[in-house]
Amino acid sequence: MCGIVGYIGTQTASEILMAGLEKLEYRGYDSAGLATVFDHQIYSIRAKGKLYNLRNKLAQIDMPAPIGIGHTRWATHGKPEEHNAHPHFDSQQRVAVVQNGIIENYRELKDALKAKGHTFTSETDTEVIPHLIEEVLADPRAQRPFTPSPLFDAVHQVVNRLKGAFAIAVISADHPNEIVIARQGAAPLCIGFGQGEFFCASDTPALVSHTQAVLHLESHEIARLTHLGVEIYSFAGERLNKIPRILEVSASLVDKHTFKHFMLKEIHEQPGVVRDCLQAYLRSDWELEPALAKTDALHPAPISSGQSPIQLGLDAALYDNLAQVQIFACGTSWHASLIGKYLLEQLADLPTVVQYASEARYAPAPWRPNTLTIGVTQSGETADTLAALTMELQRSQREAAQSPVRLLGITNRSESSLGQLVPNLIDTRAGLEVGVAATKTFVTQLIAFYLLALDLAWKRRTLPQDRIQEIINGLRQLPGKIELILNTQGEKIEEFAREFNETQDFIFLGRGINFPIALEGALKLKEISYIHAEGYPAGEMKHGPIALLDEKVPVVAIATPGSVYEKVLSNAQEAKARDARLIGITPKEFSAETDIFDDLLPVPLVEELLSPILNVIPLQLLSYYIAAHRGLDVDQPRNLAKSVTVE
Ligand code: F6R
Repeated sequence: MCGIVGYIGTQTASEILMAGLEKLEYRGYDSAGLATVFDHQIYSIRAKGKLYNLRNKLAQIDMPAPIGIGHTRWATHGKPEEHNAHPHFDSQQRVAVVQNGIIENYRELKDALKAKGHTFTSETDTEVIPHLIEEVLADPRAQRPFTPSPLFDAVHQVVNRLKGAFAIAVISADHPNEIVIARQGAAPLCIGFGQGEFFCASDTPALVSHTQAVLHLESHEIARLTHLGVEIYSFAGERLNKIPRILEVSASLVDKHTFKHFMLKEIHEQPGVVRDCLQAYLRSDWELEPALAKTDALHPAPISSGQSPIQLGLDAALYDNLAQVQIFACGTSWHASLIGKYLLEQLADLPTVVQYASEARYAPAPWRPNTLTIGVTQSGETADTLAALTMELQRSQREAAQSPVRLLGITNRSESSLGQLVPNLIDTRAGLEVGVAATKTFVTQLIAFYLLALDLAWKRRTLPQDRIQEIINGLRQLPGKIELILNTQGEKIEEFAREFNETQDFIFLGRGINFPIALEGALKLKEISYIHAEGYPAGEMKHGPIALLDEKVPVVAIATPGSVYEKVLSNAQEAKARDARLIGITPKEFSAETDIFDDLLPVPLVEELLSPILNVIPLQLLSYYIAAHRGLDVDQPRNLAKSVTVE
């Protein structure tokens, strides 16, 4: 959370910083600020609220400097007020600092600084940093020879005293030709290399309109950006030789095109990204071996020893003698993981546990050999997920020095901190997601789980070949079916959503593989429309939550023909008997049987196993339009941020 940017070059820094912050606003948007150095003075503006407030302030002043730093904030320490907005300064206003993360030992540092006479103007943890830098710069005895510059030396000394995960950028009025940046732990920071100009940012979208050459700073690295280039060192003081890589992402990806919101654009991108993801990981030349294809119920196809139809590019050792799987994730990624559990258990016969990363960190399950641990995070930066995986990595290294560490990440950002942490990755390839509510990354996480479960089923010989092929054929048809929902239902759902302008509570019901879709439908609605919503396993309603129901509470029931279809319909009847307005997510072909529903949001008929990917689409559209009709900021809902990089 929080976005930081920095620029040194020949252009007007404030404009470049402002544009960069606009691309990072998804990381936090409760206040923002800029600082530049010109003529040996620091010039700064800060504003509470969204970035346009800062832009309005900037329009009224002149900030001509070619060097500066900027910040967009998601409050951790101190309310979202202007005095807590970054940058923060030392006592003399000679040093300015922006930070993303948390300085865990800031209290003791602040007390010590106060005892020395420093006064503070904010409640933030960040403010100790410029004061600590000021202390080092003011004391000739503290300075060390043979360092690149006094400012670099001071920042270097200070970061070694800070606890927690953070990324910082520092400028100084007395050292006007450099920016010093540093990273510790899971707080991303990348450097952009232009022609005679250099940039830094929490994420690449802030860089891509200037340069494609980018280098990700790793934990415990510190860098100095000057007009001449970039020097990188470890916190231990060793000079590092690192080469930027060329990004594939283009500036146009970070654009809404004709859509009103990124979320709507991203919902509409789903057919394309599912298609691309399948194309990337399914072997186009794979065919069912004819001799093995002829099966009947008593004689299922034997399992071939040939090549799997799926090419995930994972180490073979990951799969050897697997006994179980555990998955760590948060939020929507946790919902995708619950469907992953269903698939891994039902298709690949692997007992699977899904844990909230934030819980697993402090109460890990007993360590067991031959466990595959999967971290699922679209951003690859969620602090809790990274911490749970790090804990697991350390446990595996300790407990089983001889056996392979079985750690796998599923992410949409392969260049993220997750990418650096785990040796094996499935990239969900959905393209950058800007809307805070996850949509296209959720469906591609599901695709990743289908493919992983099928690949494991193939290698573990738990499914006959023809069944694997049948599921793959079904997967290949999904993009067309998602398109159909978007084309035929989009406008209807837009109209239908108006009926809920005053609604205060919603219940979503599902069972089996669609229970996590009920959870996801409820999460989408509450996070962008602020309507209270609960997702429940349909069969559990009678154990308590049914008491909530009356005519004011709409109930959305996911009724997919298959193993629990009749059960869901009975549970829906129970809700209707309590006067609830009943909305059905169900195939049109079954509408006669489902005349119990007051309203239908039809989806194409597919086998139950594949239905979550279709059932979630009308739920995304419903949430989107309810929130949009209420005039809410769909892409940047209150109190949220796209990457949750704090605990
Ligand atoms: C919901 C949403 C959040 C994230 C959660 C985990 O729409 O976006 O619940 O799913 O913060 O984020 P990642 O997947 O980046 O770890």
